Amino acid sequence: MIVQDFVSKPFSKHISNGSTTWSSPSNIALVKYWGKREPQLPENPSISFTLSNCKTITTLRYSEKKNDGNFSFDIFLDGEKKDDFKHKIDTFFNRIKAYAPFLEHYHFTIETKNTFPHSSGIASSASGMSALALCLVDLEKELLQLNDMEGFSANGDLSSEKKSLLDDYFLKKASFLARLGSGSACRSLQGPLVVWGHHDEIEGSTDLFGVSYPFEVHKHFRNYQDVILLVDKGEKQVSSTIGHNLMHGHPFAQERFKQANRNISTLKTILKEGNVDAFINIVESEALTLHAMMMTSQPYFILMKPNTLKIINSIWDFRKKTGSKLCFTLDAGANVHVLFPGNETQKVLDFINNELVVYCENGNYICDQIGIGAKKI
Ligand code: DP6
Repeated sequence: MIVQDFVSKPFSKHISNGSTTWSSPSNIALVKYWGKREPQLPENPSISFTLSNCKTITTLRYSEKKNDGNFSFDIFLDGEKKDDFKHKIDTFFNRIKAYAPFLEHYHFTIETKNTFPHSSGIASSASGMSALALCLVDLEKELLQLNDMEGFSANGDLSSEKKSLLDDYFLKKASFLARLGSGSACRSLQGPLVVWGHHDEIEGSTDLFGVSYPFEVHKHFRNYQDVILLVDKGEKQVSSTIGHNLMHGHPFAQERFKQANRNISTLKTILKEGNVDAFINIVESEALTLHAMMMTSQPYFILMKPNTLKIINSIWDFRKKTGSKLCFTLDAGANVHVLFPGNETQKVLDFINNELVVYCENGNYICDQIGIGAKKI
């Protein structure tokens, strides 16, 4: 598919007001997206586990207004008006208006809530932008009426095959829009594994939107758990956009992009064969490489905290002592994601409670697991 495929067709249905609600999860990258070019396209392919419990639930209410060429919206988080989010949404609407021409025809009320605390240091942009994109695509679907879609019968009587093609198109479009809100958001709509960014060995993969990982996944990886250790709940030191931009002119950037491509090729075999040790090696190396890129950029940053390192060392010791298959990964911050197969849940939770909780701010952590993606509520 190409960008042009996502430009809206003329609408035929008139809708004066309504609402839609979607729930969309966060995701955790195994091979990281770090480095982008305009318009929010990744410099390398990435792959993530979709999460289950950490999610955003967004209701979009819309009522018709005069099209004066302006956006009109209010945004509420947990029932509280959040004018400080307006700039981000305004930027998002501007980026997507060619694909969502109805944006200037409605006043929107965006009511959003996260299942994880806003102050937890967990980025809500992936779940938040994907939930909002799904709400917008849902409205577009209404405005289009199904039988306006090219290739669909005029009587509106869709066969199940055509219906699933239509659903597939809207899912791709929602991921395409979510990407323009926040790159990693395009990986949150489906699950359990999603690839974003073109990779030669993954048919259908594209820089434009996330696709469900299309190959066999060994049973060892089907029930993975993710415990997020909240080491530092403070505001992000570096916004992700600034972080990604640090890859422009970075001395190691081109090698890093090649490495991500190689790591995805290797991971493909690992996921098929169920080689958990090799999985651990790739996942931990990716996390440390992401931070190494930040430490070696200009300006340079250290986003890990002393407790992040203590946790990593404890995980390595525990693995050595017990043969456990737990490993860690990191986002662009100090919190640690502890990943492990579902059959180790009790053993790893005991370890976390006995040895790692002391390194978490106020002893806080969040238990999650891989999930299947977003849903309409
Ligand atoms: C470190 O998706 O937050 O989590 O596109 O600027 O919104 P923007 O960036 P964002 O970057 C996430 C980067 C990461 C790695 C990853 O999720 O792949």
